[in-house]
Amino acid sequence: MKVFDVIVVGELNIDIIMNGINRFPEIGKEILAESLDVTLGSSSAIFASNLSSLGSRVSFLGKIGKDEFALTVLNSLQSKGVDTSNIIQSDTLKTGATLVLNFDQDRAMVTYPGAMEDLRLKDISFENIATAHHLHFSSIFLQPGIRSDVPALFKKAKSFGLTTSIDPQWDPVEKWEVDLQELLPYVDVFLPNMSEFLALTSSKTIEAGISEIMQFAPKLTVVVKDGANGAYGWNGTDLIHQPALLNDEVVDCIGAGDSFNAGFIHKFTQGASLKECLEYGTITGAVSTTRAGGTGAFVNMKLVNELVLRVSLAKTGN
Ligand SMILES: Nc1ncnc2c1ncn2[C@@H]1O[C@H](COP(=O)(O)OP(=O)(O)OP(=O)(O)O)[C@@H](O)[C@H]1O
Ligand SMILES: [Mg+2]
Repeated sequence: MKVFDVIVVGELNIDIIMNGINRFPEIGKEILAESLDVTLGSSSAIFASNLSSLGSRVSFLGKIGKDEFALTVLNSLQSKGVDTSNIIQSDTLKTGATLVLNFDQDRAMVTYPGAMEDLRLKDISFENIATAHHLHFSSIFLQPGIRSDVPALFKKAKSFGLTTSIDPQWDPVEKWEVDLQELLPYVDVFLPNMSEFLALTSSKTIEAGISEIMQFAPKLTVVVKDGANGAYGWNGTDLIHQPALLNDEVVDCIGAGDSFNAGFIHKFTQGASLKECLEYGTITGAVSTTRAGGTGAFVNMKLVNELVLRVSLAKTGN
């Protein structure tokens, strides 16, 4: 029986954010920070939380430890209405964490991937996957334990009748080792940003990348996010440009891509057209920029609706 609209398979970690330092630390010295926040990090978690806030029924499947950070992950997702019963807790591995030092307009980060590196195809129960209408996977390069099996995961999900989407996210080592030819025939919506798309397809233009992909995945919907320039959508015949909703309430762009994905997939699972999905994605992407962090704007539907109205009234990007 279908209980969820979307099941998200992906990485989970905690962000330990220190603000108000007066310089980056030097070897052998100590500096003080003015504030400390411990929040749920990871692109997949931001996507799942915001999608749930928009009203979709969402479950998460990922791997964490059994430590204090694991409790923060579970509590944060549950507080956003995300089902956590499919999250696997390792007895031996630690929950991943990123130490973020914000200084001026810049930041330095150190990530300990922990359990998220260890999620494997054999951990995944397809009986559980089949309780959702749609599978979304994110951050393929941060999850070496499952990376080469992602095509098998999508093939199996399709055989269970799910629709599918993937946001590859950035490859920290920039090797882009994923076999698109093997993967994309089992994907319905491909959601990279512009630099990821051009790197993954070894192309110089979006048109060249699309014609490359169409040779082996002719039915794929390609959506390429392009920051303040908005997003592009390919529906098999036309390339649609959806301008961003530029507004003067921008606080930061953390999680704009994941919030765009949340809006897009919320509409997609309701059977909306590509144009409608792109429109809503650019709205939720813009909404995300009006509050700090990736989930700050999606606290409740009242605030979301208020922000949607405000950014929708703002001037579009062109
Ligand atoms: N400054 C902005 N003003 C309004 N909308 C924005 C702005 N920046 C991004 N967006 C919206 O959010 C969408 C996604 O942003 P972006 O292209 O940065 O994704 P991304 O690179 O995948 O981000 P992420 O770092 O979250 O992974 C854009 O397509 C756009 O619609
Ligand atoms: Mg992104």
